[in-house]
Order: sequence, then structure tokens, then C-alpha cells
Amino acid sequence: MEKVRATITGVGAYVPEYILDNHELSKMVDTSDEWIMTRVGIKERHILKEEGEGTSFMGARAVEDLLKKTGTKPEEVDLLLCATVTPDHPFPATANIIADKVGIKNAHGFDINGACSGLLYTLDVAAKFIESGAKKKVVVVGADKMSSIVDYTDRTTCVLFGDAGTALLLEPTTEDVGLKDTILQADGSGRHYLYQKAGGSAYPATHETVDNKWHYIYQDGKTVFKHAVSRMADVSVEIMKRNNISPEDLAWLVPHQANLRIIDATAQRMGISRDQVMINIERYGNTTAATIPLCLYEWEKDLKKGDNIILAAFGAGFTWGATYIKWGYDGSKFHK
Ligand code: UT7
Repeated sequence: MEKVRATITGVGAYVPEYILDNHELSKMVDTSDEWIMTRVGIKERHILKEEGEGTSFMGARAVEDLLKKTGTKPEEVDLLLCATVTPDHPFPATANIIADKVGIKNAHGFDINGACSGLLYTLDVAAKFIESGAKKKVVVVGADKMSSIVDYTDRTTCVLFGDAGTALLLEPTTEDVGLKDTILQADGSGRHYLYQKAGGSAYPATHETVDNKWHYIYQDGKTVFKHAVSRMADVSVEIMKRNNISPEDLAWLVPHQANLRIIDATAQRMGISRDQVMINIERYGNTTAATIPLCLYEWEKDLKKGDNIILAAFGAGFTWGATYIKWGYDGSKFHK
């Protein structure tokens, strides 16, 4: 029997209009364009300002974009997964809200919290549903409204994050393309270095949790940086090795966009050059589950069927991983 793989057949995205740039941030906290550009590589981020709207607002727009461009009817979708750390509500799942907003009625769905590696975790789950034959058209949403958990008086975190929604369509193929290999890892002992302390069952919201700012992102940046650099590079090199991909064979590295220095260190360890790396952190910052598809979306027109692509991420948990994809279509078909 021919092997069935999952392949990405389209990419959709939505970024909010409002742009928060380094100049505006430097009026809010003691920071500068020079510090942010040298240490992280971000110039601006998009922020969702619509009152009462959460992650599903951006996720639904990204899915609408995806369904329209791929000519997919909402009722044809049979599974919708949403990678996010900023769900609209603790429950129900943001995946269910997005499905309702876009008219997806014949699918089940749920959220996956793998933090900044969430997109890779979710792609893997989607692929398993397709490889088993259980599902045929799976939508993977990567969306985060990071501005909802950022303390805009804390200069060590508020310069880093932005908001975005993205969506990928996955379908079965028997051709030699698609998701070929994945390495996913986690180490929960790193949980205290990057987390949102309150709002879950350990510390439900009280006056005290609000006064202590426990509903915002806390990050020990230096420790996270150290782990991110070594672990993202380790898995990226490992996935290259075990699939016999030389630096010349690799069309693209698509890294999670948390810090330009982490991206450069990963590329260096892989022995590839900057022009093999998708980088758009300068314009969006760290949009958590959305960073990788947002790159694929922006580079889609340049992607060719058969391109070897490695996706790599590191995030809270700690979680990290790498995914090897042989790209399934010429992106130019959507960009005539
Ligand atoms: O996506 C999830 C995974 N997250 C990551 O991968 C993030 C990993 N961490 C990082 O990217 C970096 O650690 C940061 C960008 C967060 C921080 O960069 P850093 O080079 O590690 O800076 P630092 O935390 O060591 O701070 C250096 C100095 C400190 O001042 P002192 O103590 O040397 O006087 C900070 O207070 O820079 C100061 N600083 C700032 N100065 C101006 C911290 N944030 C800012 C700021 N503007 N925004």
C-alpha cells in the first residue's frame, strides 16, 4: 500500500492593522530602537485593538483567507486545530469558536498549548490524523493575541511580542512530498523561566494576582535565551542529519521568530547562510504560535514543489522541536 503523508496545500494569515513601533514603545518604557534592534531585531509589531475581540478574531480571518484562496468550502473541513497560549477563554476551545465564525460545521476541533513550539506540536497531531486516514482536510490555526498578556510597563518583555493569526490547510498525498519527519521535545522543569503565573487553576484571578501582575508574561530572558540557542540548533542539526539533508540541499529554514540572535545561531550551527532563512521578526516581533506560518505566508510565492524545508521552534515549557517538510506545491500558483 502506498504511504499516505500530510502535505500543506495552502497558507492564510491575518495581521491587525495597528502598528506599535520602537519609537512609540520608547515613550512608554525606558528603551530605545537601538537596544531592541541590536539585542532582538524587532522594529515593529501589530496589535489587535478591537474591543472585546480575542485570538479567534484573527484566527477566523486567517481561515477565511485560506479557504478562499484554496477554493475550500467550510463544510469540507473535517478537523480544525488551534495552537495558542492566548485562547479567547479558558473554555470552550478557541478552535470551536473559529469554526463557528467561519461556518465549519462538519469538523471537531480543539486547542493545543505548546507555547512557541505549539505550531509544530499541532502540525504533528494534524499529520497523524491524516496519515491514519481518519481526516482529509485539516485546518491548523496558529494564532496569538500576545498583547493581552503583555505588561506594557515591563521593558524586558513588552518590546518582544506582537499579535497575528495564521492558518494552514493539510491534505493527504501519496506523492513524495509533505511532512516527512518531526522531532518534538519538552522539559517541564523549565516552566518557571517563562510563564503566566495566574489565571489558571493554580492561581485563579483575585485582587492579589492582579495587583502582583501575575496575569502577565514573566520571562527570565537570559536563561530562556541560553536554552533556546542550544536546543533549537540541536534538533535542527539532528533532523538534517537523520534525513541526509546537506546545507546545499536545504531550500529554507523557517525558525520561530523570538530573537534574531537565536535565529542566526541556529543557522550557523546548521551551516546554512542567511539567505536560506525566512526572517520577518523585524516587522512582527514574536507572535508565538503564528511566527512560522506567517513566514510561510510571506514567502509562499517563492516556494517550489519539492523544496526541502525545516521548521524549528523553542518556547515556554520548555518545549522545542523541528519538522522536515518536502514542500508540496509551487507557491506561484496563488500569486499570479
Ligand atoms: O519565544 C519564546 C522563547 N523566548 C525567547 O527565546 C527569548 C529569549 N531571550 C531573549 O531573547 C533575550 O534574553 C532578551 C531579548 C529577552 C533580553 O536580551 P539580553 O541580551 O538577554 O538582555 P538582558 O536580559 O541580559 O538585559 C541586559 C540589560 C539589562 O540591564 P543591566 O542589568 O545590564 O543594567 C536590562 O535591564 O538590558 C536591559 N534591558 C533593556 N534595556 C533597554 C532589558 N530590556 C531592555 C529594553 N530596553 N527593552
